[in-house]
Amino acid sequence: MTDGGSAIPEVHALLRVLAAGRDVLELGSAFGLGAAAMAETARRVVTVELDPDRAAATRRRVASLANVEALEGDWRRATGSFGLVFADHGDYDWERILELTEVGGFVVKDDLTPGRAVDGDPVRTFLLRDPRMVGAELLTTPSTSAIVAVRVA
Ligand SMILES: C[S@@+](CC[C@H](N)C(=O)[O-])C[C@H]1O[C@@H](n2cnc3c(N)ncnc32)[C@H](O)[C@@H]1O
Repeated sequence: MTDGGSAIPEVHALLRVLAAGRDVLELGSAFGLGAAAMAETARRVVTVELDPDRAAATRRRVASLANVEALEGDWRRATGSFGLVFADHGDYDWERILELTEVGGFVVKDDLTPGRAVDGDPVRTFLLRDPRMVGAELLTTPSTSAIVAVRVA
């Protein structure tokens, strides 16, 4: 597990692929590395960060990227419908996340420990078992995993 800093490069590589041609919402910008990675392929990236210092660091990092909008505040106040939502902020309101995800859109949750049971795990229960989602858990390194899920209803 990471310490609330940037996602690992392997996750950013996965996100570049999934973001291609899509409108992206990132929940938790940290220092803007994820937003910058997704901006390489996305149509548009909206990234939201609660911590003012981190939000300012993100604004500086993405200042030259025309397809990135860096917002400061709570992600729950974000509006719109997105083709990729990168849920990287720590506390999960899955119904709200679903409202922000278009049908056919991806939700990604990284920084997981592989091999954990689905039962009793709210993240895995929603992304792997909710009837509105179809998900798969992928190793991002030998000791970390991410779930990529698509909204199907
Ligand atoms: C793991 S870091 C994000 C890393 C970033 N996505 C990347 O790939 O480089 C999680 C961030 O979420 C932020 N955060 C936590 N709760 C939040 C909320 N309710 N709204 C917006 N950001 C939040 C934290 O301040 C922290 O910077």
